[in-house]
Amino acid sequence: MEKLTGLKKIKTAVFISGTGSNLKNIIKFSKIKKSPISINQVVSKSRLAKGLKYADQFKIKKKIYNFKSYKEAEKKISLLLRKEKIKLVCLAGFMKILSKKFIKKFDGKIINIHPSLLPKYKGLNTHSRAINNKDKLAGCTVHFVTAKLDSGKIILQKKVKIVARDNPTSLAKKVLKQEHKLYPAAIMKIFN
Ligand code: GAR
Repeated sequence: MEKLTGLKKIKTAVFISGTGSNLKNIIKFSKIKKSPISINQVVSKSRLAKGLKYADQFKIKKKIYNFKSYKEAEKKISLLLRKEKIKLVCLAGFMKILSKKFIKKFDGKIINIHPSLLPKYKGLNTHSRAINNKDKLAGCTVHFVTAKLDSGKIILQKKVKIVARDNPTSLAKKVLKQEHKLYPAAIMKIFN
């Protein structure tokens, strides 16, 4: 990842699908002086994504692509990212699997947050899988995105204890709280 020079912040896009708590958190982080990034674009796979309200609230450009045709959506997103001179893409609850072609185009510039201690529990339902397996620890991971799902180089991880009374919802809540610390820390790490 290129080093940060001078005062110019790295133009960043955040891709979401739902609530957008990570989006809100990354936007807030981007506003602090020491943050290496600025959020210039929000991309959503649905116009119903609640997180879009943060794009409005913070006056950030937003675009919605329904992915009925992956090829078409990715083509349009590629053009958008080039037009907006986006140098970093943060996936934040973006529940679409990007194609190899797209990932190759932005090689090393896409990062993702995943709600498990990768390489454990790639894919969906991470919290119920951890509870069903009687794991003592759960957590979250920020990693580079490669063509293989949830398998790129790990940037940072944060562990969370699973206690007897935890269920997938309570665990998701605890992990999400840590995600909000982890994503900014991971961004700081890749630009330092
Ligand atoms: C987060 O827990 C994130 O780790 C997860 O979706 C949630 C989005 O929450 N991502 C994945 O499961 C990706 N495979 P948010 O919309 O409140 O940021």
